[in-house]
Amino acid sequence: MIKAVRGTRDLLPPETALWNFVESAARDVFRAYNFQEIRTPIFEETALFARGVGEETDIVSKEMYTWEDRGRAASDKGQSLTLRPEATAGIVRAYIEHKLADRGLNKLYCIGPMFRRERPQKGRYRQFYQIDAEIIGPASAGSESPARDAELLEMLATLLDRLGMTDWKLQLNSVGCPNDRTQFNQALRQALEPVKDKMCADCQRRALTNPLRVFDCKVPEDQPIIETLPRINQFLDEACRTHFEAVQAILKKVGVPFSLNDRLVRGLAYYTRTAFEFTHGALGAQNAILGGGRYDGLSEALGGPPAPGIGFAIGEDRLVMSLEEKTSAESVSRKPDAYIAPMAGMNGDAARLARALRRHDLVIELGDDSFRLKKSFEAATRAGAKYILIVGEDEVKADAFALKNLRTGEQISVPRGDLARRIQG
Ligand code: HAM
Repeated sequence: MIKAVRGTRDLLPPETALWNFVESAARDVFRAYNFQEIRTPIFEETALFARGVGEETDIVSKEMYTWEDRGRAASDKGQSLTLRPEATAGIVRAYIEHKLADRGLNKLYCIGPMFRRERPQKGRYRQFYQIDAEIIGPASAGSESPARDAELLEMLATLLDRLGMTDWKLQLNSVGCPNDRTQFNQALRQALEPVKDKMCADCQRRALTNPLRVFDCKVPEDQPIIETLPRINQFLDEACRTHFEAVQAILKKVGVPFSLNDRLVRGLAYYTRTAFEFTHGALGAQNAILGGGRYDGLSEALGGPPAPGIGFAIGEDRLVMSLEEKTSAESVSRKPDAYIAPMAGMNGDAARLARALRRHDLVIELGDDSFRLKKSFEAATRAGAKYILIVGEDEVKADAFALKNLRTGEQISVPRGDLARRIQG
């Protein structure tokens, strides 16, 4: 038997109702903040992610699904393409390509699948879904302002609250500008030099390739060493420090709780200044339900105009997983209002009635005239229908139908014209 590929999965009903619940809440909340939807391709040129996300990151160096596309002629050199591991690089590419800068400030969101070849475990998949939002534009449109960082974070708090998630925690840091980071990296390398041999194999590798990533280490024995390392916030210049303080001041003013985490460095290379993650207790090791931050130099790195920006991506798989604790999929899915049971030879009349009732926004399940009445009742009950509606010759002649409430057992005859109101009632 052929099964879904490792790290991918089918999202099945009724759980899909919870996914729709999350997505429609996100769309509603984003609309209130004047965000608009963008849909970018699932695959892009590999160079976009190499330049955007960063060659030395785990995502680009180990986790991408990359292939050489065939050229038209056998002799054509194929183009290197990659399934998107994240949405930001593609959105910024579209921003540059379509000259969205001409519109001033852009608030864009995107919902869809992303692909990373990670080791699958609970809350970690190779095809997973993100709800991503970005604020990007020329600095003259205010895109650099700490007010945008705070607005984005406050929007996230609003969305999570609206979904009924309590228990979330916002962790905040500033990773400074490239200049701060060069100095920080230097200091970090220096501090790691005498101690790195005592650390885990991953950290030994990171110390050479990308020392910042040492802060991701979860190995307990390494923690006392990591505690002694310098932190990025000791290297922030005046402008970055002031920006970060302004973000915090607005968050306090609007009442969004947060804690500072000077170890939060994030796994993508484009970040500048504000970096953040929201975590949730129910998730265990993969406890980040979302992450994001500023990326003031990304557009230029991709050959575009200066366009400071900030954004986030919610891991939808993880968000749904933590919601499932409180909100059942059943509670947000809609069951049939009525099940129509056609008697022998009455499929056409039943279809006509179903068509009329569905126009009243009723959920109608339609049976089949080959069913005995007993089988129709069983099917109606299994579908969770509120009513069963019987369509026989006598009913059609009288233009009134037997409507039975499957919860109370009460049965009445209702004229065709009153049916919708009666079922809705
Ligand atoms: P990220 O931290 O790589 O950031 O991913 C964001 C979220 O996606 C994570 O917090 C997690 O919930 C979810 N996620 C990541 N990998 C997986 C996986 N293998 N399985 C399930 N969920 C996963 C970004 O992707 C940035 N583009 C966010 C951003 C937008 N920054 C600025 N704008």
